[in-house]
Amino acid sequence: MSEHTLKAAAVTLCVLAAAASFIQDARSRTSLEAGAQTNEGPMIALTFDDGPYPEVTAAILDALEQYGVKATFFVLGSRVKGQEDMLKRMEELGCEIGNHTWSHADLTGLSAAQCISEIEKTNEEFKRVLGHGAAVVRPPFGHYNSTVRNLVPYPLILWTVDTGDWQKQNPRQLARSVVEQAKEGCVILMHDQQTSTAEAITDIIPLLVREGFRFVTISELIEAHDGQSAAVKLPP
Ligand code: NI
Repeated sequence: MSEHTLKAAAVTLCVLAAAASFIQDARSRTSLEAGAQTNEGPMIALTFDDGPYPEVTAAILDALEQYGVKATFFVLGSRVKGQEDMLKRMEELGCEIGNHTWSHADLTGLSAAQCISEIEKTNEEFKRVLGHGAAVVRPPFGHYNSTVRNLVPYPLILWTVDTGDWQKQNPRQLARSVVEQAKEGCVILMHDQQTSTAEAITDIIPLLVREGFRFVTISELIEAHDGQSAAVKLPP
């Protein structure tokens, strides 16, 4: 064979290999996306706090949209202005928007009036953008006490898995730790603040979809478990 013929054969082989891998990718993606639609399998609630941050939140929403799954975003009221479209997109994708207070205040250190204001001012901001307030509240730092629990007329949402994503900057390690700790009814705490979290989520979602997890919002989890969850503190 001439050198020319050899080169042509090599090129043909490469093209065939690329085509085969493309078809394989398309197949596995289709089955992943189909898997995400099922109503069976263990439930998992991914939650993202402290945003929105334009690039990170948008990248997370892109990943959720790609696999047809949803999550809950605990948004700060003070961050809504200028990001109205981001909140609307969250809802369009079936995600839930939760209340994470106006200023990320430790509610246990506030007067009753201040505590209520942190929650209600944020809900007013959500109403301005979405036409309704949030049904759930995540107290900043997970801090609450019986006074706060009695004051806030919404379920307080904690978590069952703290990913520590604001410290862990290695997306692969973060993804592995989330997937290892995932189990039925779990509430995963993350933040839509660091790009490493957005990178990790592009691994986390397909891995959990492949394991048969069903992605639910916090309100869906509460309903399915009748409020019985270590991460949910219902109002009195
Ligand atoms: Ni927070």
